[in-house]
Amino acid sequence: MIISLVNVKGGVGKTTTAVNMGAGFAGSGLRVLLVDLDPQSSASYSVGVASDEVGLSSEDLLLGEQAARDVIVETGVEGLELIPGSMKLVGADLALARKKHPERRLIEALKPLRRQYDFILVDCPPGLSILTVNGLVASDFYILPVVPHDLDMEAMNHFFVGLETLGLTVRGLPDLLGILLTMVDHRTSVTNDVVEAIRRALGREVFQTEIPINVRLAEAPGYGSSIYDYQGWSAGARAYSQLGGEVIRRLRKKGAI
Ligand SMILES: Nc1ncnc2c1ncn2[C@@H]1O[C@H](COP(=O)(O)OP(=O)(O)OP(=O)(O)O)[C@@H](O)[C@H]1O
Ligand SMILES: [Mg+2]
Repeated sequence: MIISLVNVKGGVGKTTTAVNMGAGFAGSGLRVLLVDLDPQSSASYSVGVASDEVGLSSEDLLLGEQAARDVIVETGVEGLELIPGSMKLVGADLALARKKHPERRLIEALKPLRRQYDFILVDCPPGLSILTVNGLVASDFYILPVVPHDLDMEAMNHFFVGLETLGLTVRGLPDLLGILLTMVDHRTSVTNDVVEAIRRALGREVFQTEIPINVRLAEAPGYGSSIYDYQGWSAGARAYSQLGGEVIRRLRKKGAI
């Protein structure tokens, strides 16, 4: 099962979700691979991997002839393996444009690995660049994390319009597994209003689980730890456990697992 975390908007919790959902699955004994497609490499950093010191990265997969298994590294999170990101991804757009089927580089590279993992989670950079498109095309489903603020809802709408336009030229785009409300702060009335509006408009597309704003989730990456290793009893850890359960239930319901 390959799932990507995407949004045109930055800072909405894509990386935090990829890392902690991945760590949660790994903690329950599933085989999990995290793929970092972001030049910022926050996912790699969050699991204790200084990406540009490890040598090979997702850039080598996309542009080189490197086999995916040679790019995988262990992380500080038990059971979670990683294909690191790299600053080199900054120039990948232009280089990819010269390749045949530039949007299919990741799906082709991951093919030999599919049977080795229960979950491959792809952390995409913000936007709908060729990097994100590679993540999408490689995936069975995508999750769209959204912060319930007005501007973020605007970005969500841009995303759906962008995806529709993309679908005219790119085949093999995945289905939405769910919209995930992140950094939810129910103390503010604007949040409550927007959460209600999103749930009313999008119904079951929205995960029941909400990720609350929780400072522990923001602190954990600095220790190269998942939220479970950092503060397993925090509200953030509980929310991500709940999300993991809901993701599995949704996949079962769709007959995907
Ligand atoms: N629920 C939360 N509560 C508090 N802080 C959070 C929460 N989720 C994420 N953060 C923090 O907010 C910032 C943005 O989150 P994150 O990096 O996961 O977003 P992103 O969508 O991956 O961003 P980018 O688009 O830059 O890759 C990070 O500093 C992260 O630690
Ligand atoms: Mg990120």
